[in-house]
Amino acid sequence: MTGVKKATSTDLDAIVAIENACFTDDRFSRRQLGYLITKAQGACFIISRNNSVKAYISVIYKNNTSNLRIYSIAVLPEARGRGFGQMLIDKSKTFAREQHCSKITLEVKTTNAGALALYKKNGFQINGIIPNYYHDGTAAYHMILNLK
Ligand SMILES: CC(C)(COP(=O)(O)OP(=O)(O)OC[C@H]1O[C@@H](n2cnc3c(N)ncnc32)[C@H](O)[C@@H]1OP(=O)(O)O)[C@@H](O)C(=O)NCCC(=O)NCCS
Repeated sequence: MTGVKKATSTDLDAIVAIENACFTDDRFSRRQLGYLITKAQGACFIISRNNSVKAYISVIYKNNTSNLRIYSIAVLPEARGRGFGQMLIDKSKTFAREQHCSKITLEVKTTNAGALALYKKNGFQINGIIPNYYHDGTAAYHMILNLK
């Protein structure tokens, strides 16, 4: 059964495994991921199939701002191309509206064609470029989706 649900600390091992399978230099540590699941102002959502976690998204927001930030999104390589990324973006939109946020922002590597295609398909627009954002010197696009 496939579905999106809120992650808890019991999902930490699986989320760490996804993070390590999907990113190299710029990845969150186990400690950071634990914080994002349990303490950060925001939420982590996961998608499981056959009792195994295949994908996660972390979103955060600050008090008194109208902005939800997608902090990380990753789908295990073998589970890509099946709509899981889209389901997580849909969840972030629902969550943003529940938190009364009027926009969603994110940063993405300018070279990450797959992720860029996912975001553009969902209406995100490039709002600026941040040089040297990643450890390897690659720039990031700052992207915004207005929900109003
Ligand atoms: C980006 C990522 C989350 C997409 O997840 P996914 O489950 O494969 O995406 P979906 O199957 O839901 O695809 C939805 C849409 O996104 C776009 N898309 C996703 N992957 C794509 C790719 N590799 N190339 C082109 N378009 C792509 C397509 O428009 C697709 O719609 P379509 O299938 O109707 O063409 C996944 O590739 C991933 O985890 N990558 C590594 C981690 C990463 O780069 N995260 C983003 C950091 S900013």
